[in-house]
Amino acid sequence: MKVIKVNAPFVGEDEIRAVSEVIRGGMLAHGSVVEEFEREFAKYLGVPHLLTVSNGTVALYVALKALGVGKDDEVIVPDFTFFATASTVVLAGATPVFADIDLETYTIDPVSVDELITDKTKAIIAVHLYGHPAEMDEIMQIAKEHGLHIIEDCAQSHGAEYRGMKTGSIGDIGAFSFYATKNLTMGEGGAISTKSRDIAEFVKLYRNHGQVRRYYHEMIGWNFRITNIQAAIGLQQLRKLDQMNSRRREIANIYREELGAIGSLHLPVEKSWASHVYHQFTVWVEGEGVRDRLAEYLRKHGVQVGIHYPRPLHAQPALRKYLRKPCPNAERASAHVLSLPMHPGLSNDDVLTVTKLVKSFFEST
Ligand SMILES: Cc1ncc(COP(=O)(O)O)c(C=O)c1O
Repeated sequence: MKVIKVNAPFVGEDEIRAVSEVIRGGMLAHGSVVEEFEREFAKYLGVPHLLTVSNGTVALYVALKALGVGKDDEVIVPDFTFFATASTVVLAGATPVFADIDLETYTIDPVSVDELITDKTKAIIAVHLYGHPAEMDEIMQIAKEHGLHIIEDCAQSHGAEYRGMKTGSIGDIGAFSFYATKNLTMGEGGAISTKSRDIAEFVKLYRNHGQVRRYYHEMIGWNFRITNIQAAIGLQQLRKLDQMNSRRREIANIYREELGAIGSLHLPVEKSWASHVYHQFTVWVEGEGVRDRLAEYLRKHGVQVGIHYPRPLHAQPALRKYLRKPCPNAERASAHVLSLPMHPGLSNDDVLTVTKLVKSFFEST
């Protein structure tokens, strides 16, 4: 039985050729290919500074360090996102405070953020979850009123736009992941985007042992560098990012046409101010336990699905103690969301196989 994957990297001959060139050239470590990727991605995002780091988790951690977040500080994060959005706050020595989400976009709810601000709040992390931007104007307004920093978690939103601006170009810092299944991949990798020269200078040093020149260290830093091999893959991916995102949008349209009439499903919303890049195509399945039965049915018939995410962050044993206010929307979402296959390599037939199965599940229940 053919298995239809839920996510898959879209890589091929272009990436193989680019990696071979780097290997033949002999400079495998951090070098000119990394710099070229950084220049091109900065231009794509419309920011003056873009610096790569090892992965998206490191990007969030470095972002917090660059903003001076540490002991006694609080950072407001959505309760419904990947673990690293909050774990990096703990790693930076600060306290994550969980805000609830908006159930239309699954992104952080500005009203919930407002209620959680204290004298200790230093920053807000807005996650553009599934590839749909968070409501940035309202979050920026709150940040301005209270003198807070904004980090955009863009791990799932390469190329997505908020009111015509690329995600990662709006807040103080954008944090990207280039993990294998992301809209732009290097296998592993990450980046920081910023308009601030000071932040960029900090990141440049911090990711490379605080080294100003060879064997002269001005501060304690890490080795958070990527290699020319990773950057070579990233450059090829960047050159076709818009095309890959367009294909994701085409697939989303097929899902909408085929599944729009099923009353028990709520399909992803794309707000008038947003351009969605469908990192995931995540639907809400109505009814007690129906989501899990549908997931099992699809898996049984060779369709991989994902649950992003099966529990809110406050229900993670490692983060439980940070819950301050209930987040009922995050709890409900974790019981109802289901991600259907979404990646540029899917054929229309693959998508129609999925939609036929979804329809037959609801016809038989
Ligand atoms: C929303 C979000 N933030 C952060 C990360 C962490 O990125 P990485 O896996 O590259 O460390 C991910 C990756 O899954 C993510 O989806």
